[in-house]
Amino acid sequence: MSGPAIKRVVRLALFGAPGVGKGTQAGTLEERLDLPHISTGDMLRAAIREGTAEGQQARAIVERGELVPDALISALIGARLEREDVQEGFILDGFPRTVGQAEYLDRTLEAGGRSLDAVINITVPETEIIERLGGRRVCPSCGASYHVRFHPSMVEGRCDACGGRLEQRADDASDVIRGRLEVYARQTAPVLEYYRRRGLLRDVDGVGRPEDVTGRIVALIAAPGR
Ligand code: AP5
Repeated sequence: MSGPAIKRVVRLALFGAPGVGKGTQAGTLEERLDLPHISTGDMLRAAIREGTAEGQQARAIVERGELVPDALISALIGARLEREDVQEGFILDGFPRTVGQAEYLDRTLEAGGRSLDAVINITVPETEIIERLGGRRVCPSCGASYHVRFHPSMVEGRCDACGGRLEQRADDASDVIRGRLEVYARQTAPVLEYYRRRGLLRDVDGVGRPEDVTGRIVALIAAPGR
């Protein structure tokens, strides 16, 4: 697999239900493809931590596992897509999540003479999703993510990277996980059809070791005639 073939695809969106591994894969692909990783979940959590107006509006919604209004998220992502570092490409994680957001993204990219190259739909059975989210632990200091079983930290409860105390995300409580999966089915899954009709959708099996999933994504986006 040659480097230039991978670089042919530079504007990616990682798609899928909560917990399928979008953030894990985007983090690896960011290094492998040398493209910025743009996570709307991370942007919102940063806004909440910093207490910005957007963060104050989003806090309760995010903690309940519902979607923040399209207008709020579109404003955040629109500003991000104007920055210099994304002009050569990007990896979106968690956006778009509604058909309205997908339409907004198309309009924004088209206005700059750009378009998405592929939407990678990562699929994982619901029972495994629930196990992944229930066991996830995150470091509030540096943002590193772990799993009590699949990716444990070296010292229990402590971040390998910075030593911070690991926490469970408020929206990883078991009742909220169930609600997030319902929100995904109702509001986000319809976006799949939007991209399928445009010929941009690529399905990837998200089960197995994270590095194997990365290999499947890289093979797909590097494939000739993609
Ligand atoms: P967001 O942060 O985007 O959450 P999400 O989509 O629910 O996704 P997650 O971060 O839970 O999971 P992931 O797929 O990234 O999996 P991960 O790699 O972490 O959004 C949070 C909230 O913000 C939303 O609910 C909403 O309120 C709001 N929001 C965000 N974007 C929005 C938008 N566009 N519009 C409106 N509202 C928006 O992996 C999960 C766990 O599994 C980890 O512990 C990991 O270690 C483990 N794992 C990963 N890969 C594997 C593997 N292959 N095998 C075993 N374990 C694995």
